[in-house]
Amino acid sequence: MIGRLNHVAIAVPDLEAASATYRGLLGAEVSKPVPMPAHGVTTVFVTLPNTKIELLHPLGDASPIAGFLAKNPSGGIHHVCYEVEDILAARDALKAAGLRVLGDGEPRIGAHDKPVLFLHPKDLYGTLVELEQA
Ligand code: CO
Repeated sequence: MIGRLNHVAIAVPDLEAASATYRGLLGAEVSKPVPMPAHGVTTVFVTLPNTKIELLHPLGDASPIAGFLAKNPSGGIHHVCYEVEDILAARDALKAAGLRVLGDGEPRIGAHDKPVLFLHPKDLYGTLVELEQA
């Protein structure tokens, strides 16, 4: 069912410093910060030859990653994103198998203008998993 790894998201306490590290020290292609108010994050996209890394920083008062950074003040891997061909079919199959879909269970438009869903980390080995319709 799942296809390619679309991205790994890393929550960072300082977006400018993390961008400079990835661009300068690690020599990667790094975007400008992109505010995403609907998701409560500012994102920097790091493009690698085979996948992407997304650096996330809280935006606004109700950011979904504020609590994560409070628990992981130096930052950490926040989620991984797998591509699926049909997000509703994937959701229904996983729900039928007992996995929990976060939020109201309906796909939202994610950072790449494609529908996404998040699956409960306790159902997938302690890892928050995002599904994105490819
Ligand atoms: Co993501």
